[in-house]
Amino acid sequence: MSRCSRMVDLGRRRFLRGGAVAAAGAASAAVMSPRSADAAAGSALLEYPENRLGNVADLTVNEPLDIAYPDADSPGVLLKLGQPVEGGVGPDGDIVAYSVLCPHKGWLMAYNAADRTLNCPGHFSRFDCEAGGQQIWGHATQNLPQFTLRVDDKGDIYADGASDLIFGRPSNVL
Ligand code: FES
Repeated sequence: MSRCSRMVDLGRRRFLRGGAVAAAGAASAAVMSPRSADAAAGSALLEYPENRLGNVADLTVNEPLDIAYPDADSPGVLLKLGQPVEGGVGPDGDIVAYSVLCPHKGWLMAYNAADRTLNCPGHFSRFDCEAGGQQIWGHATQNLPQFTLRVDDKGDIYADGASDLIFGRPSNVL
């Protein structure tokens, strides 16, 4: 066998060995349990500590109340929108809370009461507060993190999670 033929044969054997390893990897992925598959997919809804954000009586329709959740480095807004909305809580199902850090590069966003959106002055991404923080324009590549809320018998509003990764954090777990 010539030197050139030996090189080709060696390359072919390496290629086949690599294919076998890839096939074994695919087979092991196929038998992962649904739970491990969920973990691998990285569910965005992660557990946070429960913090009190305010009281239903503190809110006026369509006027944002500044909050911070889950800590002082994570500004947000609490909103009463005046009609039932996605993720809304309270007697009218209209109270929601969002991070105001733009998911694109973390600029601080402002609420526009006219169309009930949060708007980024950085590169103009816009998010619909009546649709769970859905991105409706701009450079961001994810929806706005919506804080999950509950209201107790006294009207106190608590947050205990976020729907998506808050900007600047490698994980939503503190
Ligand atoms: Fe908000 Fe870029 S930082 S769109």
